[in-house]
Amino acid sequence: MREAAASAIRREDYAAPAFWIRTVELTFDLDPAKTIVASKLAIERNPQAAPGQALVLHGEDLTLLRCLADGESVSFRHEEGLLVIDHPPEKDAFTLEIRNTCAPEKNTQLSGLYTSTGGLFTQCEAEGFRRITYFLDRPDVMAVFSVTLRADKAKYPVLLSNGNLVEQGSLDNGRHFAKWHDPFPKPSYLFALVAADLVCREQKIVSRSGKEHLLQVYVRRGDLDKTEHAMASLIASVAWDEARFGLPLDLDRFMIVAVSDFNMGAMENKGLNVFNTKYVLASPATATDGDFAGIESVVGHEYFHNWTGNRITCRDWFQLSLKEGLTVYRDQEFSMDMAGSPSARAVKRIDDVRGLRAVQFPEDAGPMAHPVRPDRYQEINNFYTATVYEKGAEVVRMMATLVGREGFRRGMDLYFERHDGQAVTCDDFAQAIADANPGSALAVNLAQFKHWYAQAGTPRLTARGSHDVTTRRFTLTLTQSALPSPGQPDKQPCVMPVVMGLISTDGRALPLRLAGEEAAHGTERTLVLTQPEESFVFEDIDDAPVPSLLRGFSAPVVLDSGLYDGALITLLRHDHDAFNRWEAGQRLALNRLLAALPGTGELPALDDAYIDAMRAVLRDPALDPAFKELVLTPPGEGYVAEQCAEVDPQRIHRLREEMRQQLAARLHADWLWAWEAHQVREGYRPDAVQSGKRALANLALTMLVLDAVAKGDPVWPGRAYQRVKDAGQMTDRHAALKALIDGHSPLAQGALAHFHGVAAGDDLVLDKWFAAQAQAAEPLDGGGVVLGRVKALLKHPDFSMKNPNRLRSLVGSFCRENPAAFHRADAAGYVFWADRVLELDAINPQIAARIARAMDRWRVLAEPYRSAAREALARVAGSAKLSDDVREIVSKALED
Ligand code: TRP
Ligand code: ZN
Repeated sequence: MREAAASAIRREDYAAPAFWIRTVELTFDLDPAKTIVASKLAIERNPQAAPGQALVLHGEDLTLLRCLADGESVSFRHEEGLLVIDHPPEKDAFTLEIRNTCAPEKNTQLSGLYTSTGGLFTQCEAEGFRRITYFLDRPDVMAVFSVTLRADKAKYPVLLSNGNLVEQGSLDNGRHFAKWHDPFPKPSYLFALVAADLVCREQKIVSRSGKEHLLQVYVRRGDLDKTEHAMASLIASVAWDEARFGLPLDLDRFMIVAVSDFNMGAMENKGLNVFNTKYVLASPATATDGDFAGIESVVGHEYFHNWTGNRITCRDWFQLSLKEGLTVYRDQEFSMDMAGSPSARAVKRIDDVRGLRAVQFPEDAGPMAHPVRPDRYQEINNFYTATVYEKGAEVVRMMATLVGREGFRRGMDLYFERHDGQAVTCDDFAQAIADANPGSALAVNLAQFKHWYAQAGTPRLTARGSHDVTTRRFTLTLTQSALPSPGQPDKQPCVMPVVMGLISTDGRALPLRLAGEEAAHGTERTLVLTQPEESFVFEDIDDAPVPSLLRGFSAPVVLDSGLYDGALITLLRHDHDAFNRWEAGQRLALNRLLAALPGTGELPALDDAYIDAMRAVLRDPALDPAFKELVLTPPGEGYVAEQCAEVDPQRIHRLREEMRQQLAARLHADWLWAWEAHQVREGYRPDAVQSGKRALANLALTMLVLDAVAKGDPVWPGRAYQRVKDAGQMTDRHAALKALIDGHSPLAQGALAHFHGVAAGDDLVLDKWFAAQAQAAEPLDGGGVVLGRVKALLKHPDFSMKNPNRLRSLVGSFCRENPAAFHRADAAGYVFWADRVLELDAINPQIAARIARAMDRWRVLAEPYRSAAREALARVAGSAKLSDDVREIVSKALED
């Protein structure tokens, strides 16, 4: 932990390094207590840099044993986190030899070299390599790595690093060695090693060019039967990148290693991806449909980084979205292509947008708001955000919309032609896409389009239509605006692709002829809004149409469509765009919740028009079950909160629960039908068809349990309990457990006990057991019971603060995913938060900072929450010993 308060790193201060490192030879004598690292660096002066500069290497929590330049001892000094060689040899090139030690066993931060369940693993992104050895630990320094690993053979039978295995053999004293060589120059953040007792699933594949590759998935003994889906996902990823983007696998061997202590989801180290077990291990008995989908997308994501991130990397960390936004876009497209049918694609898109709105929109409206390409940071780990990842992906998606599918492919081709092997910027990417598509709306407006990279905050798009019966014209006026963000008082208008159509009130898609066009062509257009306000005139429109705007969520904005219920119901029934049908349904629900929020009473009885519309969707034989489940689920509490100027989490929870209760009661017969009609009787497959059926059946079960508990009827809770006991797979078992907990059934306790029993010590199943309790819906009468249970669970023998998955499943779920339990009038939720953040900061600052962000939106809270939240934040900020990670989060939250 660095004691001194960190100062901000600024994008405008970027300077190329004074030295390059061309090759690295690393030798590790691996030992959990003390690992010895010998490093030989081929260093070259950067002729473009100012002469006479010191050689300044990064190093953190290391013990230096030796430092030689060209074989001679050289004088050096230590500064905070740095090793400074003031007078390196006055030559263009020299070698530097370093010997140092580090202590993997003591590394609870899980950055650098650390231990997990008896093995040794590394995590180097973003700045973990400096915790292994002294280096120019910045992404624009790319070197060819040769790595020798030496370790006890019995404890660490598997020794892995990046690239190709060149030699292995035995040594004295029961030790053995392996030598690896990675031919591709890479930045240090892509280095990895693994030394552990693992087994692997292997598969040989042949690429389009006829080249053979070996794919391997390494896991702990006993987990091999849970690797089939990860391997299938990897094979599909390799095929997809070749087919869709012409990007082949460039290595003979590609390895995935699963580790149970991991800060994030997974890491794209060259040829040696290291994964959180959560994104590798799955069997029908232990993983839900959602888990299977998560594995497919993360395996894809890390694999796709091989080109977008590794072959072309980031010049500096401000460019993080260059690799992350683009790679998220690619994994989203991969999952959509894998889903198959147009409606399954739409379901994936809806899911992604839901995530964006639940996490990125609040981030963009709060104290941590930052541009997709940030301008400053104190701790880079805090900038692996929904903005850089998910909004970044939306920015790439808008480019793809503006240049079309083929145009985007041409742009990607040009990007690789220009920049393969380089460390580049977001500007370089946008330029390549634009240059490959001269005359496109992107190329024409490129400078303005780049505001998406530079400006924080979610823009608002307001649409108003007016129809003139005599001229048969429909005029659509679009207005864009943006609120100020921290450090950005004034905003420029953005380039917004607005994919749209017009629907007649009886549901026909109207042919579109814009003023000035000879004839109508098509029923869908992409309007490109560049001005603060623009009007679009459509000809030959007999009756006032319903505009369907922002189809497929074509820009990451908040849309005020100005549409009333009648128009929304028309869209819900007839829109050709599945995303907008869903959106219309969400808007209908939201309008009803928002209308009731200012009062203090119950949610008024839902109107027949709304209930009938929901029933019509549920019963529509032409719609997919997965889509129905999304429509029938009201907007989340967090999303509702974001629509309010002042947030009362208790009131939002109450109204949303009452809405669910009413949907449960009024659609009772329909839920019965939905449950009966969507049982899956074939063998388990995690595909879109089966998982859609299960999603809808399980929503039906949830509603039936909710209604039954309210009426004191034991039948449906009994059935759910039976499911927890008998279900052949985790999706149904888990859903039944949640239905009992969130439905406040007296059977929930027994179901939890049973679930814990069948978990049989499986870590990922236990995570679900903890999370289900931390996320439990507070009962409306005499709420406030969840925190007590969460506190008790901190003392459960299966709980540990040190394992990030477990920590997230209990503390993270409670603080970040259960607003009504967290925001208590007695402030006990905030006290709990502050205690955990401080406790965790001493163990793992990266994860502590993530938990700390639960307070991001404290300023919009109503009293008494607001004052109590400020007090808790002030207590954390006032702590004498805080990491840079947590300090940055809490001080931003408290800034005026
Ligand atoms: N690059 C990784 C990804 O998105 C993210 C990641 C994994 C990471 N582990 C990390 C980022 C640790 C920061 C710290 O695929
Ligand atoms: Zn990534």
